[in-house]
Amino acid sequence: MLLANKTAIVTGSANGIGEAVAHLFSTHGARLLLLDRDEARNAAVASAIAVERGRAIPIALDLRNRPAIDAAVEKGVDEFGAIDILINNAGIYPRQDFMSMTEQQWDEMQDINLKSMFHLTQAVLPGMLSRGAGKIVNISSVTFHLGMASLAHYIASKGGVIGLTRALARELGPHNVYVNCVTPGAILVEAEKAVVTDEQVRAWVDQQSLKRRILPLDIARVCLFLSCELSDGMTGQTLNVDGGWVMY
Ligand SMILES: NC(=O)c1ccc[n+]([C@@H]2O[C@H](COP(=O)([O-])OP(=O)(O)OC[C@H]3O[C@@H](n4cnc5c(N)ncnc54)[C@H](O)[C@@H]3O)[C@@H](O)[C@H]2O)c1
Repeated sequence: MLLANKTAIVTGSANGIGEAVAHLFSTHGARLLLLDRDEARNAAVASAIAVERGRAIPIALDLRNRPAIDAAVEKGVDEFGAIDILINNAGIYPRQDFMSMTEQQWDEMQDINLKSMFHLTQAVLPGMLSRGAGKIVNISSVTFHLGMASLAHYIASKGGVIGLTRALARELGPHNVYVNCVTPGAILVEAEKAVVTDEQVRAWVDQQSLKRRILPLDIARVCLFLSCELSDGMTGQTLNVDGGWVMY
């Protein structure tokens, strides 16, 4: 039980990596505030956690909506007393060639993948600062290290996530608030089917050192490490969880 008596916010909890984080954190004793715009699936994740005897409150919101974020954090504090952990995970990854990319597509990517972290981090920080404790984990992507065609808007947002992590680690370290980052590789999630072919996935796995698909649980385990005392000597770091694809 690495998170006993802790409360965690997980964004993008209705699917994929966020769903795995929610389940794993619950089995380690965390109370959860689950934020996602997919209301039905998010409620189903919270119900499944309740069946497992955990506590999870699902909140349906768009992470571009600051008043909704502030209200969600307030509800979490009312219900659970404080927010100890923030997992900034929600993100989108539609492909688009750069020359045909619209300003709207660019802005949507930055707003969901990066600016939402600005909003949510600002919303939870007053509590963390007043208690002199907090753990924040931001989800970036290994594509930042690789570069990849048709993902300029995505990779720019994910580079921003690493930059945000480093700057906040310096600013918040003196207050005992930790900020770290994970860069997942090609993770086996339902959503990948909309953007990549089986052939592309096989080519990526070929480039990994580990010749198996990396799972949402693999990412969740590293989020757990970065959210508990096992990582108390680290802040501002970016951990690559990609089956040994990129090494640096
Ligand atoms: N899957 C991968 O291979 C992979 C690789 C590298 C990085 N990542 C990153 O990991 C994170 C999770 O990815 P995933 O594969 O689990 O995605 P996913 O599509 O399975 O889940 C993302 C969740 O975020 C929610 N979401 C999206 N936009 C939202 C918004 N504006 N407001 C509220 N909720 C919103 C969706 O409803 C969904 O439930 C993302 O940041 C992604 O960029 C994923």
